[in-house]
Amino acid sequence: MSICRVCKNSFKEFIDFGMMPIANSFKSKIVDNEEKFPMSVGFCKECKIVQLLHQPDPKKMFHENYAFLSSTSSYMKEHFSRLASQVIEEKKLNNQSFVVEIGCNDGILLENFKNKKIKSLGIEPSQNVAKIAKSKGINVISEFFNENVAINITKEFHKADVVLSANVICHIPEINSIFSGIKKLIKNDGVFIFEEPYLLDIITKNSFDQIYDEHVFLFSVMSVSFLANKHDLELIFVEHQITHGGSMRYTIGHKNKNKIDQSVFRQIDLEKKSGLHLEKSYLNFEEKIKTIKSELVNLLNTLKSKNKKVVGYAATSKSTTLINYCGITSEILPVIYDTTPNKYNTFSPGANIPIRPYSEFHDSKPDYVLLFAWNHSKEIMLKEEGFMKKNRKWITYVPEVRIN
Ligand code: SAH
Ligand code: TYD
Ligand code: ZN
Repeated sequence: MSICRVCKNSFKEFIDFGMMPIANSFKSKIVDNEEKFPMSVGFCKECKIVQLLHQPDPKKMFHENYAFLSSTSSYMKEHFSRLASQVIEEKKLNNQSFVVEIGCNDGILLENFKNKKIKSLGIEPSQNVAKIAKSKGINVISEFFNENVAINITKEFHKADVVLSANVICHIPEINSIFSGIKKLIKNDGVFIFEEPYLLDIITKNSFDQIYDEHVFLFSVMSVSFLANKHDLELIFVEHQITHGGSMRYTIGHKNKNKIDQSVFRQIDLEKKSGLHLEKSYLNFEEKIKTIKSELVNLLNTLKSKNKKVVGYAATSKSTTLINYCGITSEILPVIYDTTPNKYNTFSPGANIPIRPYSEFHDSKPDYVLLFAWNHSKEIMLKEEGFMKKNRKWITYVPEVRIN
């Protein structure tokens, strides 16, 4: 039994992945005693949140060498530019407005506000990516956001019209401090808009590789609504997104200040129809995870015995869960190609699979390519169409193991 980080009730785990490394700890050399943590996931019946039982210290995950750079995906650039335009229009933002972003990474979202001369501030603890955002002329504080930081922002600047965040809030264990900080940070008519990988998509697509150290929570509309209420806030609007294999964008305001949109009620209904409030759904999910593991391991072993060359495409954070849970070694998968310069010539967390620059991918002449960035499959499959036509096949594992 563990204690729920949101509501303090006790809850049980439904799956144990075993000891896992830090998902983004791409290493310049192979180390003997790599840091690992026990990764298991549980469901709290009280507040309906899915969460990790243990999470490594955030300082070990987010630091001056953080490997994930938001701007590597051209689709995500478009996505965030659309989000910015939508927010500017709906909240009628102008050069008197103030926008705060939690976890701005390399400035992929805030640059859109800067270009429109709207005052903004990013909070980004990973110094290397914060530096890139600063080099774009964006104002960034390199700290972990929490209630104290929120109070300091209101003192040093003022309250915010809009607080934004994408793929960050689910990373932060001190979730109650985040929400009480938001309560103090947004103006009376201000909103907090954040988006995160969506639990219902994860369960429906069996995309269990979304579970890794950074993702301490898997949110649903039910659980976010509970959290908002707990902090005298209100979930007023939700909008599904196709990003990261299916995400949900949540809009939160002060309690009783806004009309709650039908989208919130509709989505909670759908979640209940899909059984997200029931323990048995998670036990079912666990069975599906085990099936994917055994099918993928069998396929890779068969291809190895036939001397087929399989390479990995995109050294995602998610791949760390897939690779280590399935026990994939560098004998089975000799290399992963990736477009992020700070991942070049490193070794993958846990399994020590070499990561090589994407520029070498085409020369490697693989028979099969295991696609780890399945959430960008449209963008990637289009990009590689010509190359893959030459008698090569993709291997995907979401929602099931397939050769395409
Ligand atoms: N918003 C970007 C980045 C997501 S990666 C995008 O969607 O692409 C997650 C980011 O959250 C990392 O850059 C990490 O440094 C940051 N982060 C982690 N904990 C945080 C905290 N407590 N406050 C602010 N940012 C945090
Ligand atoms: P993403 O799914 O956003 O990452 P994560 O699981 O870490 O959240 O994928 C980003 C990674 O994929 C990053 O290392 C760059 C790599 N990538 C490629 O190598 N090629 C591509 O065409 C794309 C879109 C991503
Ligand atoms: Zn709970």
